[in-house]
Amino acid sequence: MDAAHDRNPRNRTGSRLVPYGTTIFSTITARANAAGAINLGQGFPDSDPPRELIEVVSDMHLAGRNQYSPMPGLPSLRGAVAEDREGRGHVHWNPDSEVTITSGATEALAAAFLGLLEIGDEVILFDPAYDAYPAGISMAGGTPVRLSMEDDDFAITRSTLEAGISSRTRMLVLNSPWNPVGRVLSASEIAIVADVCRRHDLICISDEVYERLIFDGSHRSIADLPDMRHRTVVISSLGKRYSCTGWKIGWACASEAITAAIRAAHQFLVFSVPEPHQHAAHHALSRLDQSWEHELHETYRKRRSLLFEGLRGSGLNPRHTEGSYFILAGIGDHQDSDDVSFCDRMLQDSRVAAIPASIFTERGQGCTRYVRFAFCKAERDLNEAVARISRMSTNV
Ligand SMILES: Cc1ncc(COP(=O)(O)O)c(C=O)c1O
Repeated sequence: MDAAHDRNPRNRTGSRLVPYGTTIFSTITARANAAGAINLGQGFPDSDPPRELIEVVSDMHLAGRNQYSPMPGLPSLRGAVAEDREGRGHVHWNPDSEVTITSGATEALAAAFLGLLEIGDEVILFDPAYDAYPAGISMAGGTPVRLSMEDDDFAITRSTLEAGISSRTRMLVLNSPWNPVGRVLSASEIAIVADVCRRHDLICISDEVYERLIFDGSHRSIADLPDMRHRTVVISSLGKRYSCTGWKIGWACASEAITAAIRAAHQFLVFSVPEPHQHAAHHALSRLDQSWEHELHETYRKRRSLLFEGLRGSGLNPRHTEGSYFILAGIGDHQDSDDVSFCDRMLQDSRVAAIPASIFTERGQGCTRYVRFAFCKAERDLNEAVARISRMSTNV
């Protein structure tokens, strides 16, 4: 009976979502857990956020802050987000009309796509691109236009970008530090993107979730460039910065008109996000001793080197990571037909999970000799993973 219902075409997934299947992060984590593998796939830290933030959350629950919070987010948190950005030299956003608190960066992205796109609008993505971008654009009726950056050693060039622009292009998505590449975009790349946005009157969605995890160079936000503030949506999140990815607190900063569009979608997507976690976010941004963040940064710097050297020593070709907590590594001399087969073999035989990088590209056709490893994991696990990978045979 249930099987018959399951086969009923009435119950099928909408065609906009069919191409995206189940996100690779859920699939790999489930397979890693089932195999008892070391999970260097999904990018979540295996350590806790600062204890005082956890205490704020639990105190707020016990103090009765358990009902709906204001739709755009707590005013105190919106103020703290604006101050945090301005304090680091970025443009000023009005907390009342230009900052929205969302359910992680993921919902901020979805709200921006749903709130702004018309059916058939084209959105430029730089491949390899985080998987929520094309799916979110398609859900909103837009068309992702994916430009491969692999041949240019993952650099954004004017010619590649211009080649993707058409009369239907409405926006583009920029991500620096760049998941899964680990690059921090240079001033000249950002200037090229800004110039193209101005000349073609495009909106730029600037995903800056790894803005605080930069090891070489410094963070640049495209919103700070001339004539960009009013056409940029800056998206960021608490999760990466304070090791609390499960709390799903993010934000979107944009001009008043764009914020109105984002909130038009946000109010019907989730309406508001849990208040106790917003208080903790406010505490983190405005009161927490900076030494916690500094220590996390140093820990990640050490782990980045450990994983980089380990992967290199085990016959892979890791790229140098400037920002984020990922390393993109070439599979070197391994004879596997592609990144998916390599990851399958590594999971089954060596019990180490990582993400095949082709899933970040159009129809899985790019980056087929690259794998993404996360280094926001315990040192013991990174060492053991590397030891296991180095015992892998290059022959299939
Ligand atoms: C580039 C990028 N953007 C957005 C997100 C989603 O962030 P959040 O967990 O805050 O929804 C992630 C998470 O991995 C990411 O890597």
